[in-house]
Amino acid sequence: MQSSCDHSCNPNSKDKEMEVIGIEGTAWNLSVALFSDEEGVVCEVESPYVPERGGIHPREAAQHHAAEIKRVVGEVLRASEEISGVAFSQGPGMGPCLRVVATAARALSLLLRKPLVGVNHCVAHIEIGMWNCGVYDPVVLYVSGANSQVLVYHFGRYRVLGETLDIGIGNALDKLARSMNLQHPGGPKIEKLAADGGNYIPLPYVVKGMDFSFSGLTTAAEDALRRYSAEDVAFSFQETAFAMLTEVSERAMAHLKKEDLLLVGGVGANKRLQEMLRTMCEDRGARFHVPEKRFLKDNGAMIAYLGLLMLKCGAITEIENSAVKPNFRPDEVEVRWRI
Ligand code: ATP
Ligand code: FE2
Repeated sequence: MQSSCDHSCNPNSKDKEMEVIGIEGTAWNLSVALFSDEEGVVCEVESPYVPERGGIHPREAAQHHAAEIKRVVGEVLRASEEISGVAFSQGPGMGPCLRVVATAARALSLLLRKPLVGVNHCVAHIEIGMWNCGVYDPVVLYVSGANSQVLVYHFGRYRVLGETLDIGIGNALDKLARSMNLQHPGGPKIEKLAADGGNYIPLPYVVKGMDFSFSGLTTAAEDALRRYSAEDVAFSFQETAFAMLTEVSERAMAHLKKEDLLLVGGVGANKRLQEMLRTMCEDRGARFHVPEKRFLKDNGAMIAYLGLLMLKCGAITEIENSAVKPNFRPDEVEVRWRI
C-alpha cells in the first residue's frame, strides 16, 4: 500500500489491523466494500442502476439505492470481522443519491459506535488508482461522467491543473449515444462503434490553456449524424476529444517534469484513450499507468480505502459536519495522509 501517513497519529493503527467499510452511491452504482490494511479489498457488493430510457434520473437512482442499500450493506457486514470506521461518498454527486448514502452511513456509524469518515469521491478515484498501480506521484487524468480533470499532488492538496469548462467527457459520450438511440451508459457503445469507423470528420477541438470543453464538440457531432454514419461520427468524436485530453495531460507532465501519468475514472476503460495516452508517454520516455477496470468505474473499495487512510490520520467527520456536498471539489480536501 502506498501511503506516507504517519501512523503514530493514531495509536491503534500501529499494532492492530484496521478494516473500514466504504459506501459509494454518488450516481449510478451503489457499491459497498470492506478494505483492510493487511488484505486490501476484503469484499465488495454492488447494485448498479441502469435507466430504461434516457440518462440517469437523480430521483430514480436515489430510489434504487434506497431500495437496495439494506441488502448490500448487510451482505458486506456478514463478511466483516471488526470494523474500525464507516466511510461514505460525501460528494460530488447527485444530491438525492448522496443523501441516501449519507443517511445509511450515519446510522451504521451510530449503530456500530465507530467513527464516520466523509470521503471526496474524486480523491478516492485517484487514491485507489495509485494504490492499484503502485505509483506515488503521478500527473492524474481523471475522466468520468460528470468530471474531467488533470491533477497533481502539491503541498497538501490535489491541485486541479486543468478541467472541463462545461460537461464531463463521460456525459458528452452518453449524450452523443442517446442521440443515436443507444441505451445508457453510452461510453462503451461509442467505443464499439468507433472501432468500425475510420473516416475523420473535422469537429471542434477546444483547448483553452489547460482547460477544455466538450459541449460544442457534442453538439457538432450530433449535427454530423445527419450527414455521416454513426461509426464515423463516433470515431471522429473519440479522436478529437481524446486528443484534447492527451494534449493537456502532456503539457502538465512537461511543465512539472513528471514521468508518470495515471488514468482514473469510468471513461478510463476506453482502449483508444488508453492507447493515445500510452503512446504520448512512450514518446516522452514516461510511464503510463491504468488500474484494473473494477477500480476505474465507481466502486465502494475506493471509498473504503480512502476512508482507511483518513481514519489513520484522525480525519474523522462528526455527524454535524456530515451533510452531503454535491459540488465537493478535490482541491478542497486537506490531504493529511500524505504529509
Ligand atoms: P463521477 O462522479 O466520478 O463523475 P460517474 O458517476 O460518472 O463518476 P464512473 O463509473 O466513474 O461514474 O464513470 C461513468 C462514465 O464512464 C459514463 O459516462 C460511461 O459512459 C463512461 N464509460 C464507461 N466505460 C467506457 C468506455 N469503455 N469508453 C468510454 N466511456 C466509458
Ligand atoms: Fe466516479
